[in-house]
Amino acid sequence: AGERDLLMHRIRKNLREHDAVLVAHYYTASDIQRLADETGGIVSDSLEMARFGYEHPASTVVVAGVRFMGETAKILSPEKRVIMPTQEATCSLDIGCPADEFAAFCDEHPDRTVVVYANTSAAVKARADWVVTSSIALDVIRHLHAQGEKILWAPDKHLGDYVQRQTGADMLMWDGACIVHEEFKAVELEALRGQLPDAKVLAHPESPAGVLDQADVIGSTTQLLRAVTELDATTFIVATDNGLFHKMREAAPGKQLIEAPTAGRSATCNSCAHCPWMAMNGLRNLDAALRTGADEIHVDPAVAKRAMVSLGRMLDFGR
Ligand code: 13P
Ligand code: SF4
Repeated sequence: AGERDLLMHRIRKNLREHDAVLVAHYYTASDIQRLADETGGIVSDSLEMARFGYEHPASTVVVAGVRFMGETAKILSPEKRVIMPTQEATCSLDIGCPADEFAAFCDEHPDRTVVVYANTSAAVKARADWVVTSSIALDVIRHLHAQGEKILWAPDKHLGDYVQRQTGADMLMWDGACIVHEEFKAVELEALRGQLPDAKVLAHPESPAGVLDQADVIGSTTQLLRAVTELDATTFIVATDNGLFHKMREAAPGKQLIEAPTAGRSATCNSCAHCPWMAMNGLRNLDAALRTGADEIHVDPAVAKRAMVSLGRMLDFGR
């Protein structure tokens, strides 16, 4: 507790002194989420993180999350300093969609509107017509489909498949997945629901179809958090990273939250649904980033300029 208190104190002080605001994702450690809340920052889903960082007047944005979130903040606000606890924090979707291979795929299908998930590199965003997050993917594809557009979608095949089934759009799909959500198991979930017939199932759309088919609510992290308070139920089975439980407990203290079953769940592992890259964000490297300014995010200005177009459409959509 001694070191923790010291680090928390120093981080608060340095945020103030460096005119910095802390923008954190729900999957980061509870202490990081507390700091963001206490210091006038935000804890949210990836779309709101992007919006908040863009609109906030602070000259430094500290992004606690994964690399694509830091890059998005920098693309949207090139004049601001954007730092992260560690740039090593990546995402399996980003890794699985290299910019050169993706560009070649797009070149083969020039008749399609290119829509990419926010969980991609700046270079992939620069090649896209649209960027979406899980909170608006369905609405954006519905909108493009209504205009008769054929879609090239990347990289998450589960989210893409879900959106395709909901909208009936013509979507050509990249083969990518989130290593965390892909682990949720449909058969085991069905068995658990059998034991808890009154429980509601909340699932992030990066989960496989067999899990989504059983969900009462499918949505972004913010949408799932809202469902815990809004739905008339006391028990929830949650198919997303368990970092979100911190805010869910805060918002609905009386409700019971159960992790959806994963293949990895065993007697020795009761918190398998946690992103290894989100877990790289800690108080120590957050403190160090603020003190030293290391792990500053830079994006090639030419790439950023092109990515700003597709990201701008994301921010404008639904306004
Ligand atoms: P959200 O936009 O729903 O927060 O999702 C981001 C993410 O990385 C989910 O795994
Ligand atoms: Fe990427 Fe999955 Fe981690 Fe989200 S939870 S950052 S999609 S690997």
